[in-house]
Amino acid sequence: MKITVVNGTEKHGVTYRMKEIFLEQFRDEAEITEYYLPRDCPAFCAGCMVCFSKGQHLCKDAEFVQKIEKSLLEADLLVFTSPAYVFHATGAMKAMLDHFGYRWMPHRPAGEMFGKRAVIITQCLGAGGKSTAKDIKDSLSWWGVSSIRVVSFRLLSDVDWNKIDEKRKASFQKKLSSVAKKMRAIDYSRPAHTGLVVKAKFYAARMLQTSLGKRNPEYTDYKYWKEKGWIDRARPWK
Ligand SMILES: Cc1cc2nc3c(=O)[nH]c(=O)nc-3n(C[C@H](O)[C@H](O)[C@H](O)COP(=O)(O)O)c2cc1C
Repeated sequence: MKITVVNGTEKHGVTYRMKEIFLEQFRDEAEITEYYLPRDCPAFCAGCMVCFSKGQHLCKDAEFVQKIEKSLLEADLLVFTSPAYVFHATGAMKAMLDHFGYRWMPHRPAGEMFGKRAVIITQCLGAGGKSTAKDIKDSLSWWGVSSIRVVSFRLLSDVDWNKIDEKRKASFQKKLSSVAKKMRAIDYSRPAHTGLVVKAKFYAARMLQTSLGKRNPEYTDYKYWKEKGWIDRARPWK
């Protein structure tokens, strides 16, 4: 199986350790590709809108964005990690997610995303783990992913992994290993079930595209939906 990991920080801190514990369960059988932000997607979206209007390959940062996208589309399991920074995902993670605005359902979602599974690992000192995960979950859901598992940790006081007491480390290990074992047991030859929330987003976007297409059949997003057959009877899920 293939796993693509997007890390919201380059720091080899606590979030990194959590992710390593999770991946331990897959090391013997999975092909794992990791991205570290901001290193692997260093530029901000400039708001030029060219990805929406003309195509993602014309983005000034296409070299970085398309490399990550290819890897996400090829993966069976997507893993996103981020510590909480002021109650949210790191700026580097947000900057990368902005680059994928064109993959949101009202634009040109990738059909492959609808069958994928994802795990989000977040951690914070006191509060903000859930809202951090939500930042990432929002994008994944609007990309078409239904099967999203969130694992959040609250460290309370320790920021240095080496200073965290062994009992607490063992409890993190237990939780992460248990989620990893469940994720490993999945038959990845079968796509994940597409849930009602994602389907509702799809049908709302389909209505939008149908009406935009009536006004301008040459509209980039409409042409994409039409080519995929989604304006007609085809659906991106099985
Ligand atoms: C800029 C910044 C903002 C932070 N904001 C929060 C926060 O809102 N809530 C919280 O509990 N911890 C916050 N923290 C603490 C980090 O989440 C915590 O130190 C975490 O363990 C860092 O993970 P790392 O070791 O992987 O870098 C913040 C840290 C930084 C650097």
